[in-house]
Amino acid sequence: MAESLTTIRSKLQEHKQDHLLKFYDELSELERENLLEQLSDIDFVALQTLIDQYVMRNPVKDLPKDLQPAPYYPCDPGSKYDADHYRTIGEDLIRQGKVAAFTVAGGQGTRLGWNGPKGTFPATAITGRPLFRIFAEQLLATAKRYGNSIRWYIMTSPQNHAQTRAFFADNRFFGIDRQDIFMFPQGTMPCIDAATGKLLLSNKSTIAVNPDGHGGSIKALAQSGAIEVMQSCGIEHISYFQVDNPMVRAIDPLFVGLHAAAPDSSGEISSKMVTKTSPQEKVGVFCQSGGKTMVIEYSDLPDDLTNQTTDDGKLRFIAGSIAIHMLSVKFVEKLTSNSDGFALPFHRADKIVPYIDTTTGKLTEPDKPNAVKLEAFVFDAIPLAESSIVYETNRNEEFAPIKNAKGIDSVVSSQQLQTQRAANWLKTHGIEIPLDSKDQVDAVIEISPLTALEAADLKKIDLPKSIKPGESIVL
Ligand code: UD1
Repeated sequence: MAESLTTIRSKLQEHKQDHLLKFYDELSELERENLLEQLSDIDFVALQTLIDQYVMRNPVKDLPKDLQPAPYYPCDPGSKYDADHYRTIGEDLIRQGKVAAFTVAGGQGTRLGWNGPKGTFPATAITGRPLFRIFAEQLLATAKRYGNSIRWYIMTSPQNHAQTRAFFADNRFFGIDRQDIFMFPQGTMPCIDAATGKLLLSNKSTIAVNPDGHGGSIKALAQSGAIEVMQSCGIEHISYFQVDNPMVRAIDPLFVGLHAAAPDSSGEISSKMVTKTSPQEKVGVFCQSGGKTMVIEYSDLPDDLTNQTTDDGKLRFIAGSIAIHMLSVKFVEKLTSNSDGFALPFHRADKIVPYIDTTTGKLTEPDKPNAVKLEAFVFDAIPLAESSIVYETNRNEEFAPIKNAKGIDSVVSSQQLQTQRAANWLKTHGIEIPLDSKDQVDAVIEISPLTALEAADLKKIDLPKSIKPGESIVL
């Protein structure tokens, strides 16, 4: 229920945000109602603190003095741990319906330049399977393998929620039982003018807002009722992954097992890493301080630590975050049960945000960053756990993100990596793979998750004896 105009006006005056009502008299009845509702929902006292802290000052991140690289469970277990044991534990949990999938898909995808929710982006090279379809097929294949359906939770944003729902409906939920998909929008934060600390209007009756970061997922899981639903249907663990990575193993039994049962895991939140390809690779890095595991974003790690090497010449801070986690339902419940509300710390991002100039009433489209967006990051929940483990996955198996329109982490690089992985899988079954002069696979190969979730699954399939140079093959 919106507060009255008088109450809102005095609140705005108190916080020097009364420009937001500048066009009130020109608005239609409906627009006035909408604007008052948006303004009623904002906690201006809390927001003022954030503006002072993050906008009027550019906060410098203080790194702990005792920062160490985080230990991790290596991809090749050797004699370090019994992978079969943990895989069996993970498989049992999946079979019992105790593991759900969770995709964070509320981001704005501005870098990709795709006009629609990122999950609708055609990610595969031959059939153009959208990201959401790839995940859906994985969940169907996993459900078939373990004889139990996998519930899928998807976080959207208010900006892309309706489009995402429509996409699923148009695609008949990709064959997943409608009841097994639970979609909810995340929260938002107002965009703030970087120079003045004033909130921006995207039109005369609308406050400019941005999704509150993937860290908003923890609160949104609780507020949407998802956690309650999970509890009522016996789900104990959540497999968290980003919408931008078509090669992610949506439900990975070994990772589930390590998270749930490794001796140094509290079973609250665990993470996957890959070794960084170079010091400059733009991924967060797993560290430890005071016995707590944490991720330091690449932009916050000072150059001397980023470039530091060990005696054998390897990067010291080598564990790159690929934003894949396991979270327990109990952990989310613990974090969010406090009646004062729960929020992870915010991070400041300087962005271009078009806005209505309140002097002229005209839409202004800046050509350089003019606004601060405040976003929370899910990995800031890691140090809140009793103890949290990191597990190394094979980069070639699991990391091919689509973030940019061109170059690094683009659809082209992702599709090359997808073909490379498919070729590696076929090679393990003795199939000859043609290579070009640069030793790259000279073919395009696409394998549906319904055909194979991993290399071993291909043994049940009729495979071609060899692949001709330049051929396109869908399996
Ligand atoms: C992220 C990580 C980085 C990691 C990399 C791996 C951050 C700050 N950085 O980088 O450490 O190495 O992924 O690929 O997270 N999202 C929402 N709501 C939001 C914002 C984002 O759901 O409000 C989702 C997006 O839809 C996307 C994911 O979170 O699935 C990643 O967000 P993005 O901001 O693009 O992070 P990156 O900079 O790519």
